[in-house]
Amino acid sequence: MTNRLRKAAAIALGVALATSTAGAAEGGIPYRKAADMLHLVMSAARTVYARMVVQRLTVDEEVITASEHFDDDLALPLPAQMFRFTAEAVSDSSEELSYSLLSLNPINKKNGPGTDAEQQGLEHVADDPDENFYAEEELGGQRYFTAVYADVAVAEACVNCHNYHKDSPRSDFEVGDVMGAVVIRIPMDE
Ligand code: HEC
Repeated sequence: MTNRLRKAAAIALGVALATSTAGAAEGGIPYRKAADMLHLVMSAARTVYARMVVQRLTVDEEVITASEHFDDDLALPLPAQMFRFTAEAVSDSSEELSYSLLSLNPINKKNGPGTDAEQQGLEHVADDPDENFYAEEELGGQRYFTAVYADVAVAEACVNCHNYHKDSPRSDFEVGDVMGAVVIRIPMDE
């Protein structure tokens, strides 16, 4: 990662941590609201990358492709990969704040649910994408506020790529289906 990227990630993280730790302080932002705001920012960034970089350069202007093997193919990383790289940059700077894009039917096995709250949350938003899932969990001696938000197949491209991908355990996604969820985990004050 370049220094500029590292710095940008550190600044974003600083903002995020300031928001989450304020959650327990008197008059501070409740954890749920902090998680909702973080989700808003990360989904906006995901949409902007998908529309203004991937869609524009691959489909509209046809100057470059987007590929899972972007390194070998000299292509753009996929939106889900960009999302994961940003999340990894945050994890590099913080052992406690984390987020991820998961699914009950993941292409990348690492994107399956890892805790009970993740499993429950993924099932919950799959049943009702309009209702977010919130839980508290204790992992490694630390208490976390965990929020889960539905990730919906907003375009034909989502469905086509996943249904035909060789590692996808599901091949019947339709536009409008819940394909997975964004999970945000905020460390709680004692
Ligand atoms: C060109 C192919 C492609 C397109 C288009 C695409 N994805 Fe994916 N998606 C992938 C790949 C490959 C991964 C695994 C990335 C990784 O290694 O973490 C993935 C990961 C995901 C995950 C995490 C679970 C998993 O399957 O590993 C979700 C949820 C997801 N995509 C939803 C979407 C949605 C919603 C859209 C449309 C807005 C979309 N994808 C568009 C290929 C694609």
